[in-house]
Amino acid sequence: MKLTEEQRKSLRITVDYTNMTDKYLPDIGDKGISQRKLESYKKTAKDAHTYVSKNRGKDELYMGWTELPYNQNEIVNDILATAKNIRKKFENFVVLGIGGSALGPIMAFNALCHLHYNDLPRKKRGGPRFFVEDNVDPVRMKELLDVIDVKKTCFNVISKSGATSETMAQYLIIADLLKQAGEKVKDHVIFTTDAKRGNLVKISKELGKVKSYVLPDGVGGRFSELSPVGLLPAAVVGIDIKTLLKGAAYMDKLCKTPELDKNPALLCATLQYICMNEGKNIGVLMPYSDNLRYVSDWYAQLWAESLGKNITLDGTPCNVGQTPVKALGVTDQHSQVQLYTEGPFDKVFTFLSVGSYKEKTPIPQGCEKIPDVNFLCGHTMEELIQAENKATAYALTKAGRMNYTINLPEVNEFTLGQLLYLFELQTAYAGAMLHIDPFNQPGVEAGKKATFALLGKSGYEEQKKELDGAASNPDYVV
Ligand code: PA5
Repeated sequence: MKLTEEQRKSLRITVDYTNMTDKYLPDIGDKGISQRKLESYKKTAKDAHTYVSKNRGKDELYMGWTELPYNQNEIVNDILATAKNIRKKFENFVVLGIGGSALGPIMAFNALCHLHYNDLPRKKRGGPRFFVEDNVDPVRMKELLDVIDVKKTCFNVISKSGATSETMAQYLIIADLLKQAGEKVKDHVIFTTDAKRGNLVKISKELGKVKSYVLPDGVGGRFSELSPVGLLPAAVVGIDIKTLLKGAAYMDKLCKTPELDKNPALLCATLQYICMNEGKNIGVLMPYSDNLRYVSDWYAQLWAESLGKNITLDGTPCNVGQTPVKALGVTDQHSQVQLYTEGPFDKVFTFLSVGSYKEKTPIPQGCEKIPDVNFLCGHTMEELIQAENKATAYALTKAGRMNYTINLPEVNEFTLGQLLYLFELQTAYAGAMLHIDPFNQPGVEAGKKATFALLGKSGYEEQKKELDGAASNPDYVV
């Protein structure tokens, strides 16, 4: 998509934090942020901005993701060529991966493709059916195999380490099935992995140079959506990946300034940091759009895994982070909003609002005699969802609950690219404010290692003994 400067401006996403301020919140519950308080955080914000700007692109700090919008021209062209081939050749495209290797592809697919993409006729889809298998539930694996023919399927195995039990177990099952079906594994798999290290590199050599993409050194799983991890699956389902990257670059440009009232990611990080300091340890993300519903899953991992840490950069013990909660407007108005409006004052709310939906869907006439229903007639579903979004923000504000809104003029590649980059930068800034390393995940590694031990991987014998001894006590089983 070619966009003029004027079009870019009109597609710029904005952050409205009116309902976070003491000016607009009533004098109950959350006090709201005064101008004075915001001023007092300016230095913290500026320092965080300086830290992130100074270290951007540094692989050794896992900050290589900041450069992904700029340094992938050649890779993008290669991905487009591969995707074109896959779109012609295969009936199904299956991502095997988990965590940062799965949530991004799920999010982008859901945001930018038809909500019933897999059910559309092939001609309308233009590409293969799309599946992301991010669990090792045996039923799910078996039932996927009931609906795909492995002979007509391309499997994108995504794992930076090539050592994740879930992904490697899936790979083994698929490779075995392909062999049983008389197919060459190599013809049906694409690896996305580390450049040199890891088991997928070894397997690729054994199979005879599998088509592979590199997850660059300085890019961790949850910051990898704009790398081949996300770009190949996106291109396969027809997403315009060049525009996605352009959207990210646009947000990067907006965030060059350390001024809070001009830098959307810095503003969001500061608002969240103030909330965390005031005991709001729950952050609810509530998109008013089915297309954006999996942004919440992707963001939940980004925010939780990056900020949930027990040690600061200088080694001081701490327990920081904020629990991300996923909600969907309007669906969760009828489930969670009661708690949000009247429950404890321990949450901050972020709405994702859409200015113009790709469909309007008029609500026809047909109930003239029943005014309680007739008021809907002649409106559109777009008007209804937008009214409900506004109404929920209003009700929360009236009840003294801090909330802010990220406005997307439309949901498309350019705005999604902006949103992803905004959240990634916001996370990096918040990590700097909390003085922790947002790019490691020792807590995840611990679980991975315990699984190795339980399943008898060599080198983990001691841990296995300990785990075997940790059997549940029947005295406490009811
Ligand atoms: O964000 C992360 O680093 C993790 O969620 C990883 O993406 C996840 O654990 C999968 O790891 P790998 O890509 O090594 O298979």
